[in-house]
Amino acid sequence: MVSAKDFRGRDVLALQDFSAEEIRFLLDQAAHWKKKRFGNELRNKTVLLLFSKPSTRTKISFAVATHHLGGSVVTMDQMTSHLGHGETLKDTAYVLSRYVDAIVARLFAQQDLVDLAQYASVPVLNALTDSLHPCQALADYLTIREKKGTFHGLNVAYVGDGNNVCHSLLIAGSKLGVNVSVASPRGYAPDAAIVKQAKENAQPSGSFIRVVQKPLDAVKGADVVYTDTWTSMGREKEAAKRKRMFRPYQVNQKLLSAAKHDALVMHCMPVHRGLELTDDVMDGPQSVLIDQAENRLHTEKALLALVLG
Ligand code: CP
Ligand code: NVA
Repeated sequence: MVSAKDFRGRDVLALQDFSAEEIRFLLDQAAHWKKKRFGNELRNKTVLLLFSKPSTRTKISFAVATHHLGGSVVTMDQMTSHLGHGETLKDTAYVLSRYVDAIVARLFAQQDLVDLAQYASVPVLNALTDSLHPCQALADYLTIREKKGTFHGLNVAYVGDGNNVCHSLLIAGSKLGVNVSVASPRGYAPDAAIVKQAKENAQPSGSFIRVVQKPLDAVKGADVVYTDTWTSMGREKEAAKRKRMFRPYQVNQKLLSAAKHDALVMHCMPVHRGLELTDDVMDGPQSVLIDQAENRLHTEKALLALVLG
């Protein structure tokens, strides 16, 4: 039986490090915090938000979550700290661990996050790296469970870039027993090691994981149609090429009509309207983007309360 004490002091670097039962427990805790809203779990505790890339949702929702639990936040970025000017991650981690109780970090390389966690003596939470976005996937599956009532037999279609968001969706979905089909152009498929991991997770959970090229092959009969930006942070130089490559992967009314009539439309945001998602679909009745964004707050509150509680 999973309990709160299983999470105390743990890093949250990748959902692969958590069992299906632990992920379900996290989602249940998030639902609990969605109702309860406020607590004292972080009283006299300070959370550092260390962001090397821009953020609206993650940074603000973690700050608000910390406040709602009675704690305080400090922020740091590469530009205005020594981290971007020659001081090592290792030395930074040693020092910061003497000041704060947890570090929420958005970095480029996953390995940097792993290193940070190794040198820090306080829990480190992944606020997005080039390869993973676990906090996003937790909020996504909470949203899916709220709207669909179950994970059993659900088909999630991810259309577009096989990126960090896609990877975490695959890992969490495969653990939770959700079928995940990814459609990406050649050269932009999810990382083979992640797909392998997801396929292994899917065996005990009884779901299937599929990677295809044609958007229609993924979307047909889907309960959820998920997309993300074609150009992730750090890939800006490739934007023009990506715009051409991903054009057929736009989630528009035509593609959506191949999914179930009550399919949810999801996107982690920020959206580039008119590119990966059309205005009518984003603002339409099937879109749950804003609920997804709200659920970041509740899932992160659950994470902080469990890790620091
Ligand atoms: N979805 C997400 O992580 O958004 P931000 O980049 O605004 O944090
Ligand atoms: N895949 C996107 C997600 C942004 C929240 C990126 O990494 O830029």
